[in-house]
Amino acid sequence: MVPPQTPQIAHIMTQIHENDNKKIVKNPKEPLSLDQLVKNIHQALGPDGGLDSDHIDANEILKLMEEYSSNSTDWNKYTIFDHSRAYTRNLIDDGNGKFNLMILAWSKGQQSPIHDHAGSHCIMKILDGELQETQYKWPESSNIGNSNKDDDECNGKSLSSSSSVESSDITEAVQNSSSSAEFKGNPLKTRKCTRLRPNEVAYIHDKIGLHRISNPDNDRGAVSLHLYTPPYQVCKTFEENTGRSRMGGKCTFYSIGGNRCTDKS
Ligand SMILES: [Fe+2]
Repeated sequence: MVPPQTPQIAHIMTQIHENDNKKIVKNPKEPLSLDQLVKNIHQALGPDGGLDSDHIDANEILKLMEEYSSNSTDWNKYTIFDHSRAYTRNLIDDGNGKFNLMILAWSKGQQSPIHDHAGSHCIMKILDGELQETQYKWPESSNIGNSNKDDDECNGKSLSSSSSVESSDITEAVQNSSSSAEFKGNPLKTRKCTRLRPNEVAYIHDKIGLHRISNPDNDRGAVSLHLYTPPYQVCKTFEENTGRSRMGGKCTFYSIGGNRCTDKS
């Protein structure tokens, strides 16, 4: 069953041209398995896919991710939680260097830092639970005196800073030379907030803006499937109140192929 398109996806669809040169063969009578999804992504981003972000047909990848319907028997073996972290990154497939497909396991009531995506396409599908995506505009000097809340839906829904745990994969940031108290930036401006439910898909690229992902439920974890293409190892994190950016630490994996990595990050 193909989930309904969110307004966000519909908007993206209008921005991305169809690529009729590549066709994914599938049997509409058979539900798509996660293994078949991986094969289809390989086919779409194979030798001709290119590593240049501008040559990737994000529309095609969006459709592939929408075609998969969450089935826990597919992804349970890849999903490892570490509740000392906001979330854990569990790699399913490295795409032979073309992409990273991973499962993120979100602890109760936790959230990511606000971050960019280092020029990569990021496509996220909810597998279990619910997540909230808050998108922000890039910091700019012209937002002096403006409210940082364009969308009232966002008001009051951000998780408190005390709900974040220190140890997640992109919060281990390298400090800039100036302290937060010394930095005189402006608050980030919110673009939109979206509550994402199972099988819904979201897309972001640096050309759209920044985002933060939150698990607003304090009683249960959440699981999401993420495709990053081209893969990246480092991104920037941003302070909501000042727009100040930092280079994040190297993105690492908590597990690969369902096996816990011995080199603990
Ligand atoms: Fe992200």
